[in-house]
Amino acid sequence: MEKTQRTATLSFDGKVLELPMLSPTVGPDVIDIRKLYAEGDVFTYDPGFTSTASCNSDITFIDGGKGQLLYRGYPIDQLAGKSHYLEVCYLLLYGELPSGDELDEFESRVTNHTMVHEQMHNFFRGFRRDAHPMATMVGVVGAMSAFYHDSTDINDPLQREIASIRLIAKMPTIAAMAFKYSIGQPFVYPRNDLDYASNFLRMCYAVPAEEYEVNPILSRAMDRIFTLHADHEQNASTATVRLAGSSGANPFACIAAGIACLWGPAHGGANEAALDMLREIGTVDRIPEFIARAKDRDDPFRLMGFGHRVYKNFDPRAKVMKESADEVLDLLGIHNNPTLQVAKELEKIALEDEYFVSKKLYPNVDFYSGIILDAMGFPTSMFTPIFALSRTVGWIAQWKEMIGDPTQKIGRPRQLYVGAAARDYVDVEAR
Ligand code: SDX
Repeated sequence: MEKTQRTATLSFDGKVLELPMLSPTVGPDVIDIRKLYAEGDVFTYDPGFTSTASCNSDITFIDGGKGQLLYRGYPIDQLAGKSHYLEVCYLLLYGELPSGDELDEFESRVTNHTMVHEQMHNFFRGFRRDAHPMATMVGVVGAMSAFYHDSTDINDPLQREIASIRLIAKMPTIAAMAFKYSIGQPFVYPRNDLDYASNFLRMCYAVPAEEYEVNPILSRAMDRIFTLHADHEQNASTATVRLAGSSGANPFACIAAGIACLWGPAHGGANEAALDMLREIGTVDRIPEFIARAKDRDDPFRLMGFGHRVYKNFDPRAKVMKESADEVLDLLGIHNNPTLQVAKELEKIALEDEYFVSKKLYPNVDFYSGIILDAMGFPTSMFTPIFALSRTVGWIAQWKEMIGDPTQKIGRPRQLYVGAAARDYVDVEAR
């Protein structure tokens, strides 16, 4: 007995349309409106995509009501506790957890692509020293297509794979170079005997004048931060990467577009803004003043690190990050960190306030990450580059899924036009 196709009936202006309904593995059903314009001569209208699925995907799933995040079905708290970033990269890219041999081979491939073309050192020197590292990263990653011509043909699966490995491997090197350049220190080359997170920390903090020993507490915390930020469904920057990729642009250009979008304070730039906000609040007794501002509709101020389009419960990443913040600060011997105290008190007060409760505003991934990164010695300007470094694997996995979908078309939204109807030109003398 063939399962009957469920449909949604849409009736207007004497028309009755039967639109197919599609069911996911988990989450809301969708109404397939691909034929709506052809059959109904109307568009749908959803400027912020609050109710619109732009693709089908089997990579990541968020249950905003439960505060659940799954990478290929595995809960984020389990991966953050039991896995490590390069294993999570393998999972996101290829869909399954690797065997021991598969993981060794993958880690070896990534490790052997961590250096950047030597000419890129000159490219960095064209920037002002005080450029924001995100500005540098957007420029350098976009320029990678000028250095790695042999992996820009998106129709060649092998070139797609090489470009993917190159981007994952080189992002820490590029982010560390952006940091070193901004503080006037020499670039540090990657080392093949270090794991991914340790390599990044060493490239950021080693100086030629002395040996640098990676603190295992910091590298474990760094690796966990990378994992927590790796992918997140069709967030703004991932949607940007998919849209850029749908035109056939090369992968380096697409990832540069994602970095540019992530930079916004409503998105990945919130981690830098959240720590700056916590520092501006300064002491617990000033929290009510900022809560009042966040509730004032005439004040554009928002509590950075709070709220989310999808999570209407705790962001599970924020929970893991909060636990890590306690652990890292304690292990580093940083007790009674005033910023962490303000963060915890702000969270407590906000979550008891009717405004935040009614709007289901909870701390998101950006609320606690800055506290850990600050304790690790990073300036706030490096917070979003670290987010971009972590998210690169998610952008690539989503880009590869889109490119590999035989039904994919160039993304080209329509609009609700509210401008002037056709009218004739008027000579300046007659105006
Ligand atoms: C990330 O999409 C992703 O998955 C993103 C991300 C990822 O991993 O890729 O999770 C990473 O970007 C996390 C979010 C980081 N941004 C911030 O922390 C910035 C502060 N948050 C807000 O800008 C806001 O909450 C957003 C942008 C995160 C979500 O925006 P929405 O879903 O469009 O929500 P909204 O702006 O429509 O807000 C709904 C209501 C509004 O009030 P009303 O107009 O209904 O009266 O809640 C209010 C907002 O004013 N509100 C806030 C608030 N966030 C929303 N009020 C005060 N402080 C806030 N932080």
